[in-house]
Amino acid sequence: MHYGGDYNPEQWSEDVWAEDVRLMRTAGVTLVTVNVFSWSVIQPRESIFEWEWLDRVLELLHENEISVDLATGTASPPPWVSERYPGVLPQDDGGATLWPGSRQHYAPTSPDYRRLAATLVTELAARYHDHPAVVMWHVNNELGCHTPWDYSDNASAAFGRWLEARYQSIEALNKAWNTVFWSQRYADFSQVLPPRKAPSFHNPGAVLDFKRFSSDALLELFIMERDIIRAAGATQPITTNLMGPFPPGDYWKWAAEMDVVSNDAYPDPNDPEAFRSLAFASDLMRGLKPDKPWLLMEQSTNAVQWRPSNARKQPGVMAAWSIQSVSRGADGVLFFQWRQSRAGAEKFHSAMLPHAGPETRVFREITALGDDLRSLPKLGIGSRARAALVFDWDNLWAIGDEALPAQLDYNEIVQRWYNAFHRQHIGVDIVNPRSDLSGYDVVVAPLLYLVSDQSAAHLSAFVEGGGHLLVSAFTDVVDETDAFRPGGYLRTLGGTFGVRVEEYDALVLPGTDGPGFRSATLDSPAGPLVGTFLVDEIHAVTADVLGRFTDGPIPGAPAFTANRFGSGVGYYLATIPDDAGMTSVVRWVAEQAGVGAEFSGLPELVEASRRDQHVFFINHGATDVWLDIPTSDAVNVGVERVYLGPQEWTWLHRP
Ligand code: GAL
Repeated sequence: MHYGGDYNPEQWSEDVWAEDVRLMRTAGVTLVTVNVFSWSVIQPRESIFEWEWLDRVLELLHENEISVDLATGTASPPPWVSERYPGVLPQDDGGATLWPGSRQHYAPTSPDYRRLAATLVTELAARYHDHPAVVMWHVNNELGCHTPWDYSDNASAAFGRWLEARYQSIEALNKAWNTVFWSQRYADFSQVLPPRKAPSFHNPGAVLDFKRFSSDALLELFIMERDIIRAAGATQPITTNLMGPFPPGDYWKWAAEMDVVSNDAYPDPNDPEAFRSLAFASDLMRGLKPDKPWLLMEQSTNAVQWRPSNARKQPGVMAAWSIQSVSRGADGVLFFQWRQSRAGAEKFHSAMLPHAGPETRVFREITALGDDLRSLPKLGIGSRARAALVFDWDNLWAIGDEALPAQLDYNEIVQRWYNAFHRQHIGVDIVNPRSDLSGYDVVVAPLLYLVSDQSAAHLSAFVEGGGHLLVSAFTDVVDETDAFRPGGYLRTLGGTFGVRVEEYDALVLPGTDGPGFRSATLDSPAGPLVGTFLVDEIHAVTADVLGRFTDGPIPGAPAFTANRFGSGVGYYLATIPDDAGMTSVVRWVAEQAGVGAEFSGLPELVEASRRDQHVFFINHGATDVWLDIPTSDAVNVGVERVYLGPQEWTWLHRP
């Protein structure tokens, strides 16, 4: 179990370093990430490299038995880079340059940026590839965090090349994007621009491809650095820190290139549901590489400084959230950063060692967490659940289009479906539409608007083989170019769900005013449900109608159907339920598939999650709880009732 954080000794004089390592040992730190933002210190000019300070840092850490996750330092180019090569700077969609003065001011496709970053990494890897302190490599930092979409001329040229590789001929692109509409027909790939600020809606196929391209451009940076590190002879695992369900990066594709998945997580302590979004991000990380533990690479010990109002974490919250990551498959808990900065943009950001020193609540909690992590039992790899939830970047991007029947926030809606499982303590894995689904009994695929022929065949085969698949409104609407298939909607999954979709109708968006229907209630075997956002007008073909709309735009129309297909069942819910509705539907469909909670009778704010042979319980609520432990499990814990105060946690061995 790794424990530590980003360590930026270049911010401090060397006499402070000695105190750092002494206090790191007190806190039980085992791993620190070094060199994330030191490019300007290492290479003050293009022709000069200064490594001696970093040699001394690594030596000091090694002498003190603290391992190093060595960052490549390419996330923030020094001033000379943009002074000499102004073309490295990215541009926004209005053509405004994003200037130096903060960080991440580079266009991922800039040939100069790539060459200079490659030189830096080549020198770094040659020097430290076999350093005994280095146990991991950390490429760049949060790739795409501030500048995920670049519209510069470099991006434009690279986008053209990417499109040419994808479509081979400009005719194929014209066909895929239906450019004949609004007179957009291209004669050559060089005419295609990134979706810069335009008078009205962009072509949705073009925007979708631009998002795919932008994700690939960032991934290319990772691959470039990774290959340089390997070529130098380094054998340590190589990672880059991801950001949960980060909209700009297709992490399914990225994770396949990474040795270890690592994540940065900064939920808002003021959000009462923050622990559920954190659980979702953790389960996503576990899903990206199900056969390996992942690392919580960054979180805050207390407040951040980048929200309009930055609440502290209440006592115990930092530890409870850390243990939650462990319970969901993390083999390491790290923070940004070790010592709070004295100046600069993040001086108000909390750290493991606060500005007020070690005699503080935060440092006491950090030391206690170090002890707790050391005393955990040996944990297996995160286990496979019986339920799965589909999360897919193509859909996130396509649903982000502005010209749809209703504005839908893909991440928000998928998170709410996840919460429905989480609230009921039903373990769920995060998968993509191409994942191996054998072994799952129930799969929920919310907002599966875009579906390729292969994904559709894959999902159908899951149902045919005995699986229970639930989809909601706006499913199987377009192919992977964001175009309708000929002949109507639900063209690839119609047989699986046994329904025909005629039309979509929008309800007044939740939280907004305006004339029209605010919701559409339906009857269902899970009880009455309130539908929001959309209603699909569907007709049962082979499906049984389980429930009908009782109000809204189409009262009496089928709203919830079940279709026996092979040995499984496809459920179509012709709207997007509210939170209570999602909870009821998930419970009911899971029951049909024989899937239940990991533990029954737990309060909603107590989380129960299984990691291989251990079940962790965390009380996220503000009140004390007593957990009744079933007699068979009580043998392991020695008691039948366990008390958990607010933010307290425990685990039990349950093979
Ligand atoms: C992360 C970043 C860190 C630090 C942190 C502050 O996005 O990787 O360098 O800025 O946020 O919350």
